[in-house]
Amino acid sequence: MSRRRQRWVRWPESLTTESARGPLGFGADYNPDQWEREVWDEDVRLMRQAGVNVVSLGIFSWARLQPTADTWDFAWLDEVMDLLHAHGIAVDLATATASPPPWLSAAHPEVLPVTRTGETMWPGARQHWRPTSPVFRQHALAVVEMMASRYAHHPALAAWHVSNELGCHNLYDYSDDAAVAFRAWLSQRYGDLDGLNHAWGTAFWSQRYSDWSQILPPRLTPTIPNPTHQLDFKRFSSDALKDHLRAEREILDRLTPDVPVTTNFMVMSHFNGIDYADWAAEVDFVSNDHYVLVDDRARDELSFSANLTGGIAGGEPWFLMEHSTSAVNWRAINPPKAEGALVRDSLTHVAHGADAVCFFQWRQSLAGAEKYHSAMVPHAGEDSDVYRTVVRLGGHLEQLAPVVGSRRRQARAAILFDIESSWTLDLDANPSSSVSHRAEALDWYAAFLGLGVRADVIPAGAPLDGYDVVVAPVLHVMPSATADRLREFVDRGGHLITTYFSGVVDENNHVLPGGHPGALRDLLGIRIEEFGPLLDGDEVVLDDGSTGTLWTDRITATAPDRQVLATYKTGLQAGRPAVTRRAVGPGSATYVSTRLGADGLEPLLGRLLQAAGVESELPEALRGRVELAIRTDGEREYWFLVNRTDDVVDLGDLGDLGEPMFSSSADGVELAGSGVAVLTRAVR
Ligand code: GLA
Repeated sequence: MSRRRQRWVRWPESLTTESARGPLGFGADYNPDQWEREVWDEDVRLMRQAGVNVVSLGIFSWARLQPTADTWDFAWLDEVMDLLHAHGIAVDLATATASPPPWLSAAHPEVLPVTRTGETMWPGARQHWRPTSPVFRQHALAVVEMMASRYAHHPALAAWHVSNELGCHNLYDYSDDAAVAFRAWLSQRYGDLDGLNHAWGTAFWSQRYSDWSQILPPRLTPTIPNPTHQLDFKRFSSDALKDHLRAEREILDRLTPDVPVTTNFMVMSHFNGIDYADWAAEVDFVSNDHYVLVDDRARDELSFSANLTGGIAGGEPWFLMEHSTSAVNWRAINPPKAEGALVRDSLTHVAHGADAVCFFQWRQSLAGAEKYHSAMVPHAGEDSDVYRTVVRLGGHLEQLAPVVGSRRRQARAAILFDIESSWTLDLDANPSSSVSHRAEALDWYAAFLGLGVRADVIPAGAPLDGYDVVVAPVLHVMPSATADRLREFVDRGGHLITTYFSGVVDENNHVLPGGHPGALRDLLGIRIEEFGPLLDGDEVVLDDGSTGTLWTDRITATAPDRQVLATYKTGLQAGRPAVTRRAVGPGSATYVSTRLGADGLEPLLGRLLQAAGVESELPEALRGRVELAIRTDGEREYWFLVNRTDDVVDLGDLGDLGEPMFSSSADGVELAGSGVAVLTRAVR
């Protein structure tokens, strides 16, 4: 989880006068190549007015920079770099390889990705390249080499932005290039075919391989493809793009060893493809893109993703590379953001460790697929609420500059996020296709928010030291090392809470036999003979008055010291335990066998936290209505209070929580709906 060089943006001197670490970054993707020259002057004027200090440049400029295979045109980019620098704006410079120009795919159609059903993904949109294509790689690296040589010493260059959202559209490629690379990856993982045949369970349905050349990506099959084959393809696909990131990075390291390298991750609920906990080690600082949902879980998901990004960054500050000022363009219906949401969304990221707040994009396009996507300067221009709010946000970020460089203060509770469990649950042929690791994790997170108790969302492999309570929601894939870590955590006095369908399979997606959950049976003191997934719309009632959906288990007690916290009153499991807890010395292990949802989890979690001695740090009147996130630089702490409601929250007397430092509301005590306040205090 720690980055390779722990290097932050290399701010130009003009931006490090107040603090060596520089300002809170503020800016956007900037696409001047979509505009006439005279607009650029207007752009820098408005950027300065808004307090913009960094832009990501050149992301989709390959076709403009290299108009044909043998010609290059950097003059316009030189001019933009100089112009930005002259106005004190730093550049996060893209390597420009995200979307290949038409001449490349015309000359080399073999770079085009192929879908599971064998269709070619043609040019005409973006990211139409195979992650494993040697031809694409060669051309992309030539661009990186040109960019890095040309701008190595440009004073505006503050960081490198490798490609863009790697894998957003081309993550799964089933081409022949992918087949070759997949075989090499498998042979590295398993050593020999016996290892692979065992891991994939190929004794089933006559799938045994006798030669590497027989192995293909999991293309369209007559019925359910081998689950481990599919899981390995997901692992491979994440690694294949990591390999591309490394290849670009090696050139940047060679030519500009002092410039930090990043690439924008997509830690958000609608992208589940890449193992970012693994990728974090490849970049100098973590960057993320986040787009809010438009449902009633949007606020909680925003906080969850920001929190998880902080977890992926190992608690260190990170860079919010993109979010939106208002509507996006890629849903069926794209409503604008409500008043207060732009600032709330931005500062929620800061609360969870973002030291830069950037948007897609600076100026709203007039043409192309994203012309209805919001921007910092909308179609309406400077005279617009969006731009005025952007200017106000710039002022807020200046006021918040003291938080720069501070890391998150570890909470006493953690929620584990495990990409492999998430991938595996997304496969077909599970007992229920409705089970989601991320949705269950978000339920628990929302229950913590409801109780006003901080919880860190961390990758499942992160250290558990310092946590008193660890929630492992549908931690389905459980290699023995993970089970050992959880057992040690409980043996040390920790309180583990886990749920249905956790600890059921090993890293090969093989069931651990002898009664579920094989990996945690003894620790939990229970044994499950049969799963009881529920049909959509079905519910079961528990004797504590809560209602379960999605799942039930046929649980038998195995340990005499196991307590039953709730019993099923209805359904196939009526009379059997629904929630169990086993005390293990001063620690405990709790199992929740059905989906209670955030509201149903709240009272249960409240009781479990009380037993663990974990309390809210907020005054009682604010719990649930205000989210708390704390950053610290070791000397001072910054307590971010985010209004989770649309109503005014009277912060009242915050007692000795801290000194008021910032409020997005005119009256610091009356926090408007979605308002954000920050208190500061010395570390105690
Ligand atoms: C992604 C991309 C951007 C833009 C936005 C629109 O995040 O990186 O180029 O397409 O989506 O939401």
